[in-house]
Amino acid sequence: LTETPLGQGNKVERFTSSGFILAAIGSSVGLGNMWKFPYITGLYGGAAFFLLFIVCLILVGLPILLAEMTIGRGGRGNAASSFSNLASDKNWKWLGFLMVLTAFLIMAYYGVVAGWTLQYTVDSLSGALSKPGMDFEKQFFDFAGGYWPLFWQLVVMVICGIVVGKGISGGIEKFNKYLIPGFLIILLILMFRALTLPGAAAGVEFFLKPDFSVLTGESALIALGHAFFSLSLGMGCMLTYGSYVQKEQSLGKATVAIGIGDLGYALIAGLIIFPTVFSYGIESDKGVGLAFMALPAAFSQMPLGTVFGGLFFLLLAIAALTSAVSILEVPVAYAMSAWKWSRKKAAAIISAVCYVIGIPAALSVGGVLTDWTPFGKNVFDWFDFTTAYVLMPLGGLVVTLFTGYAWKRAGEEAGLTGFWYRAWMFSLRYIAPVLILAVLLYSIFVKPV
Ligand code: PHE
Repeated sequence: LTETPLGQGNKVERFTSSGFILAAIGSSVGLGNMWKFPYITGLYGGAAFFLLFIVCLILVGLPILLAEMTIGRGGRGNAASSFSNLASDKNWKWLGFLMVLTAFLIMAYYGVVAGWTLQYTVDSLSGALSKPGMDFEKQFFDFAGGYWPLFWQLVVMVICGIVVGKGISGGIEKFNKYLIPGFLIILLILMFRALTLPGAAAGVEFFLKPDFSVLTGESALIALGHAFFSLSLGMGCMLTYGSYVQKEQSLGKATVAIGIGDLGYALIAGLIIFPTVFSYGIESDKGVGLAFMALPAAFSQMPLGTVFGGLFFLLLAIAALTSAVSILEVPVAYAMSAWKWSRKKAAAIISAVCYVIGIPAALSVGGVLTDWTPFGKNVFDWFDFTTAYVLMPLGGLVVTLFTGYAWKRAGEEAGLTGFWYRAWMFSLRYIAPVLILAVLLYSIFVKPV
């Protein structure tokens, strides 16, 4: 196998083994766990939805996660060329290229929400969110509908551009090594605070005591889509990270560690958010604004609320940034080898392009583009819908079909034999493609979300 050649001046880089696990957990744990997961759980079925999500994660998510990392390390290229390095039919790389495009779309709206978290961190700490009698819903839309989000989105893109521009060991790995331990400490403090609030038990019950009668076909669609989003699958991210993994590292163990990390953070996020909002008698079905409306409302009534609120949004910001860098790395890695750009040039230009694509998304939550809803959704919702519920599952389908049917040596590269190899293949060949197809057809033809 020949490694995809990089542009001049670009080094071939590798993660250390712990650095890889941290970076991959940093990628998977993000706004998905802390912002999206709680609000979709609130909307689509509480504890029963959580269980459905766990099933999707195990049956479909983890096998595809392992497959993506395996393709990356086996192919040693970007999200497109890794496929053509491994397959006899070179056309696979076009399907991989689709994933690179998906990464652009995700980055565009992810950067917007990441920007909101920065503003809310500042506002919580400065006390601007704790004025008595504040209307937090109005506050959120006033802020999101203004022009400050464009500034914060720029800050996010600049940070990502710098980190990715510094490369794998000096940039992405270091960034995650510093941020993730701090992240864990804040998380535990907040969970302890939430669970000791009066009336916290009702929130825990909503989150953990299932009532299956509330599930619908739509819940299944959202749960599977979210398994992709949450594990950063179907858009070449884990594949690109995988291409920097050393040969000696066990990808099977990495899969388990990342799965536990992602699920663990979703669980803890739920144990922070639901007890907190229930304790203050706030509704949990607020949709995209849940974290930005219900929680500030609760923090504003809590003793030391400015500190806890500030910590909460800082947590969200860290989670968002460690994911955002992983998204940006996908097109940057592509540009470095396909167009022979230097890493710094690729990071600068691509983050600028993602910034520009994200502007219409930023302006459509309460802003001037809110009521522009071509085909029934505004731009922000279109970015979310097409990526999480169409393009990422589609990318996942490409990965399962490639690993399950086209590439014969996947088991060797993944280091799997016997039972685990057969179980992995069974999921990749039958379970995952069937479920993904069902969900794709449902989401496109029956009930667009
Ligand atoms: N997994 C991240 C989250 O949960 C989002 C993400 C998607 C990151 C795709 C990278 C790639 O927020």
